[in-house]
Amino acid sequence: SLHLMKEWPMNTQVEQPRRGPSLILLHSIPIFAGVPDSQLEQIAKVAFHRRVPRQTTIVRAGDSTDSLYVLISGGAKVLKSDEEGREVILTLLGPGEFFGEMGLIDGSPRSADVMATETCELLVITKADFKRCLAENFDLCLNIMKSLVQRLREADRNIESLALMDVYGRVAKLLIDFSEEERGQRVIRRRVTKQDIAKMIGASREMVSRVMKDLENRGYFRVEEGRIVILEKRVPAAPAPAPRP
Ligand code: CMP
Repeated sequence: SLHLMKEWPMNTQVEQPRRGPSLILLHSIPIFAGVPDSQLEQIAKVAFHRRVPRQTTIVRAGDSTDSLYVLISGGAKVLKSDEEGREVILTLLGPGEFFGEMGLIDGSPRSADVMATETCELLVITKADFKRCLAENFDLCLNIMKSLVQRLREADRNIESLALMDVYGRVAKLLIDFSEEERGQRVIRRRVTKQDIAKMIGASREMVSRVMKDLENRGYFRVEEGRIVILEKRVPAAPAPAPRP
């Protein structure tokens, strides 16, 4: 279980830190957009690479905070769990995204667990270095603020759908949110399990399976090898009586 896992970086499976990132790599990361090279060089000196295997808990809720993490490759989920091991997934993170900033900004303990869903390549910046970078880089401050605002918007949309939509609406919305434009079609290439969808929308896995089967049967999407093609962008109305989670 999650709780038996040692928090990284004590985890012995983790490789030793490697030398700092290249400027080319830093340029490709959205939070460093617009930051001048002279300042990126400072960041390159203080940031270091880490590689963690999948299933590693990188950050654990309630722990004190010491670093900011930037995901270079791989994927992670941000989750909360209760004593009975029930989980809610707050968001999925992909390459170029960062986490661990909340504790660094307000000094509070970690707000959630962040767990690697795949092998992750991370850039780690310590709290003291991060604060120094923020003080010296207005663009970095602005980029962090933009990301925080985007996360608040996403959280607001989630609250809205949890409060106002039934499971059909929530599943449909999640599929649309996860889809990308591909030659005039909306396609979901990202692999997410029904269990994870259930944990993102506050429903049971069985309910998610049933609703997805029904949406597929009614022609809202088609499953092809390794991907889902959305056939209609409209969020379908739920049949009456609407199932509740
Ligand atoms: P921190 O609280 O330091 O540790 C857990 C991290 O999870 C947190 O910083 C954020 O980086 C991330 N996190 C928490 N809630 C969300 C959310 N709703 N969306 C995206 N990331 C989040």
